[in-house]
Amino acid sequence: MTAIDYTAIYDPDRDFDARYTRATGRRVGRWLHPHESVLELGCATGLMTTLLAGDGRRVTGVDRSPEYLARAEARALPRCEFVAGDLDDLAALERLGRFHHVVLTNVLHEVADPEAVLRRVAQAHVVPGTLVHVSLQNPRSLHRLVALEMGLIHDLHDVAERGERFGTKRLMDARDMAALGHSAGLREIAREGVFLKPLPNDALEALPDEVLDGLEGAVRHLPEHGALNLLTFRAG
Ligand SMILES: C[S@@+](CC[C@H](N)C(=O)[O-])C[C@H]1O[C@@H](n2cnc3c(N)ncnc32)[C@H](O)[C@@H]1O
Repeated sequence: MTAIDYTAIYDPDRDFDARYTRATGRRVGRWLHPHESVLELGCATGLMTTLLAGDGRRVTGVDRSPEYLARAEARALPRCEFVAGDLDDLAALERLGRFHHVVLTNVLHEVADPEAVLRRVAQAHVVPGTLVHVSLQNPRSLHRLVALEMGLIHDLHDVAERGERFGTKRLMDARDMAALGHSAGLREIAREGVFLKPLPNDALEALPDEVLDGLEGAVRHLPEHGALNLLTFRAG
């Protein structure tokens, strides 16, 4: 299966998705301590990296897109390095070593074999106690339940046209993600929803910031129906 390169048509900093990136990054950030090391796989332009870096932490970002990586580099974040690499060939990145945290946010839906990626991470990039943070778009997101009722999709796991354009190979719910981590030898220690998304991005874009902030907070009342699921795993 050929990977879709959407670098030329998708700006991760300007797209509405940047809201989800920041909301996810704030949640991952709660687990981080000063001076820890972080491996961020699928770092894009480094927007998430801005929320992981600082406090003496060392962050290594990996992405397949040289254009995104150049923009991440240009941020000149302290103690951050950016490396070109393909998650479907993680063996080539073994030299990067082991980290206190591995972050895989909103990326495993695009790789050929997510289970193989997580297994490789668990073998080559963790120490006992490493936290592996994985987020993915949620097939049970509120906007997908609405689309189902409207007859726009026939199954919650259907990949929408926008998803296909941006390389989505599959949708996984929190149970699928937990099973993935388990089969890679990781232990789930926390699970939360990120952002309540009642409508597609282009409809949400028109809303004022305070409403969007409210939707980010309101997900705690419907944690199984957030735009994304964020699972935290511990390596044994
Ligand atoms: C949807 S963006 C998510 C970016 C960021 N992690 C976030 O949460 O906002 C997915 C990123 O993963 C990268 N990516 C997708 N498949 C990849 C692969 N096989 N190897 C390396 N990078 C990949 C894309 O280039 C893109 O920058």
